[in-house]
Amino acid sequence: MGKFSLLILPGDGIGPEVMTEVKRVIDWFEQRRKIIFNVEEDLVGGCAYDKYGTPLSDSTMNKAHKVDAVLLGAVGGPIYEKLHFDKQPERGLLRLRKEMDLYANLRPAQCFDALADFSSLKKDIVSGLDIMIVRELTSGIYFGEPRGIEGHGDNRVGINTTRYTTNEIRRVARSAFELARKRDNRLCSMEKANVMESGVLWREELKYVHENEYPDVELSHMYADAGAMQLVRWPKQFDVIVTDNLFGDILSDCAAMLTGSLGMLPSASLGTLMDSGLPKALYEPVHGSAPDIAGLGQANPCACILSFAMALRYSFDKGNEATYLEQAVQNVLSEGFRTKDLIQASKGKEVSTSEMGDAIINNLEKMR
Ligand code: IPM
Ligand code: MG
Repeated sequence: MGKFSLLILPGDGIGPEVMTEVKRVIDWFEQRRKIIFNVEEDLVGGCAYDKYGTPLSDSTMNKAHKVDAVLLGAVGGPIYEKLHFDKQPERGLLRLRKEMDLYANLRPAQCFDALADFSSLKKDIVSGLDIMIVRELTSGIYFGEPRGIEGHGDNRVGINTTRYTTNEIRRVARSAFELARKRDNRLCSMEKANVMESGVLWREELKYVHENEYPDVELSHMYADAGAMQLVRWPKQFDVIVTDNLFGDILSDCAAMLTGSLGMLPSASLGTLMDSGLPKALYEPVHGSAPDIAGLGQANPCACILSFAMALRYSFDKGNEATYLEQAVQNVLSEGFRTKDLIQASKGKEVSTSEMGDAIINNLEKMR
């Protein structure tokens, strides 16, 4: 079997700590499952700025283009907040997304049984929750022109532009319809067609792709504000949600919190197909760099480990191995292992980042 190439970018804050546990999981798959990875490691975010003067160097960008998948920890931290906008850690991540053209961002929000008590919503509203948010990731207001701050003194104006082309909407719509077909066959599209022309176009194009290519999938539309309300009122009504870059950023954080912890949620960002037939891809946990707990061994490695599971599924065509790893994480939670972020409301044994890694690897061994 050929080797899979993987570029690991641990980044800032808790990124390196959680990535250390992922690397142990990768070793396990190499040794026990004979899935061989060619792993390279590099810098992104604040640590890249410290070393190269830029949050993502051209050489790292080139490596990212060549590998089968990129796995990223987290970027950012308070010491970088005063940097010029173009040098901030987040720009490194946005450059990766844009230049790799990773237009479909998959953010599953799944409520683990063992954590259902931990949600800020009532248990019966979230238990068994399993939704998938597909966020458009390379366009919209994040990248639209014109943008900037103009004028002087008391007369300045800040400008950003939401802009979507037909093609940009259709391609992410197709990704979402494809996912829906593999799940409960229902897709809900969210925009603000009542206020924004880009939302009107979004809705028209969703209907077009539906009628012409996916008439078998059930399609519905919601204004994004109503969608936010429905997400906290009765989230289980949704299967797959597709939305633009900005609404997707907000709605996915909201959906994440339903599940009890941001520390549990992975994501995959997928682009066009490479020669291998697999999509360009970047995997990262939904949580941030959590500078307040960086280096303390308290971070939850599950989201990053589950991001690697998504890589097994979407980049390495190893769906069964992905399910196996996801099962190990679920078992460990059922057995009561809890990193600090999971401890307050739900009972269990408090463990460190590396003890959580140990527990997951022990479980992989046990199930073997
Ligand atoms: C996310 C984050 C990023 C975003 C930041 C870090 C640039 O919030 O991935 O959701 O806004 O897209
Ligand atoms: Mg966000």
